Amino acid sequence: MSALPPPLPRDRDDVPGRLNAQLQEDTLVAAMSEMVDRYSRNFPQHRASAGAHTHPTPKAKLGGDVVLLTGATGALGSTLLAQLVSNTDVSRVFVLNRRSPTGVPLVRRQMDAMAEAGFEASKLVRSPKVVLLETDLPDDRLGLSDEVYEEIRTSVTHIFHNAYLVNFNVPLSGFEPNVRTLRHLIDLALASPHPTPPRLLFVSTGDVWSKKPDLDGPVPEVLTPAKYATRGGYGQSKWVCEHVMANAAKTTPLRPIIVRVGQISGGRNGAWNAHEWFPAMIRSSTYLGCLPILEQDIRWIPVDTVSQAMIEMRDSPFTVHQLEHPRPVHWNAVMHPIARTLHLPLVPYAEWLGRLERSGRSLKTQARSKHSNEHGESDEQSENLNESEEETKRKNPAWTLVAFFRGIRPHRSQTPWRTAVGQTVFGMEHALSQAPCLREERLARLGGEDAVKWLEFWRRVGVLDWGVRASL
Ligand SMILES: NC(=O)c1ccc[n+]([C@@H]2O[C@H](COP(=O)([O-])OP(=O)(O)OC[C@H]3O[C@@H](n4cnc5c(N)ncnc54)[C@H](OP(=O)(O)O)[C@@H]3O)[C@@H](O)[C@H]2O)c1
Repeated sequence: MSALPPPLPRDRDDVPGRLNAQLQEDTLVAAMSEMVDRYSRNFPQHRASAGAHTHPTPKAKLGGDVVLLTGATGALGSTLLAQLVSNTDVSRVFVLNRRSPTGVPLVRRQMDAMAEAGFEASKLVRSPKVVLLETDLPDDRLGLSDEVYEEIRTSVTHIFHNAYLVNFNVPLSGFEPNVRTLRHLIDLALASPHPTPPRLLFVSTGDVWSKKPDLDGPVPEVLTPAKYATRGGYGQSKWVCEHVMANAAKTTPLRPIIVRVGQISGGRNGAWNAHEWFPAMIRSSTYLGCLPILEQDIRWIPVDTVSQAMIEMRDSPFTVHQLEHPRPVHWNAVMHPIARTLHLPLVPYAEWLGRLERSGRSLKTQARSKHSNEHGESDEQSENLNESEEETKRKNPAWTLVAFFRGIRPHRSQTPWRTAVGQTVFGMEHALSQAPCLREERLARLGGEDAVKWLEFWRRVGVLDWGVRASL
């Protein structure tokens, strides 16, 4: 019997598939470019007020920079607020937060966020430097009253635009309010009466490189062609924002600062949002009874360093900056201490993933039969499975991200310029030249101490369950 012919090389065997993929990419690029064009129309002219060149700047008048910060209730935003307030070169911080959907008062929410991140919340939030505001950012004039808008317009020297919907399942159109907010901030900056508009720093993401260009090395700190940013609405929308800012810089005196951030890890007290992929992986591992081995380097950067670096970059002469840990470590550097602390064995990634895949099914079955037994119902009768879904999310959160975990590459590739979760390795010349906090003597490599702090934080906030194990 003759052997089967060898498979055709991938790029020759599926012409319709490739044409279809190209068509999809072209459609996405067209939508992204159309959005850039729409939000790049009619930038206002910047007009310094008469005598602005001779009048003292707000910095001189107030004894420091006046910063507008958006989105201070999240992980990075609350750290930025704490560090800006403590910075003696900053005299005032206007904070724009979106409204709470549940009506929790603004000050309470801000204090809770900062306390969770390990800061002296009350002292910082009540500092005379801080002006806390709650508003609808995508509305005209950022939803602010004329009086407040005027106060900000005439005094602000730096804008840190951090607020953003962080959701990887939303298409580009769902991020349009975020793009609109960015445009309102550009308009605000250009309406400044100062000789030069305030610097506008935008927190962007490595997802603008979601498709790796054919480069044998880290990706450079330049604006990316649209085709490299087409994977997912989140990265597409950040690409749109970057390009709207770049267009403003071509025709006005605005000098934007784009800071693309890689994976952010927990900060000074280990606080790391328990719903992100890595915390979910660890939380589920206590349930699955094992931790995964990955032959990969990690370049995660603690949130305090991200915040400090941004503050140090606020007068940068460059436009694009890329920020991740400049000194990577092997996965084992954090995973071995986690395994020791949790008393869990390390297993090949494929085995961990197999257990995760089986666990989702088994958890649902367990919850279904528990519910049936407790209520004397047959499986068919027990329709209320909301409880089981909640339980699945709590004990085994990685199950809800199983598609993401299927995409992880456990082995080192020949070109090590992509991390396990598909992020590209950043070139960082601009970032390193502007942010002394990234230097070797100031920023330690990630290691066991960090990993144990993350575990302690997840345990403290009640999401790391060390007792319950599945029988898989
Ligand atoms: N975490 C990372 O690894 C990472 C990596 C690259 C870039 N980034 C960027 O870093 C920034 C902060 O991220 P984070 O990790 O600190 O996220 P986070 O904890 O979810 O905080 C996001 C902040 O933005 C606000 N926000 C969310 N959706 C909004 C919307 N639709 N309109 C206005 N405000 C909204 C949140 O307000 P509520 O508290 O009201 O929800 C919160 O203040 C974002 O721009 C994100 O894209 C993060």
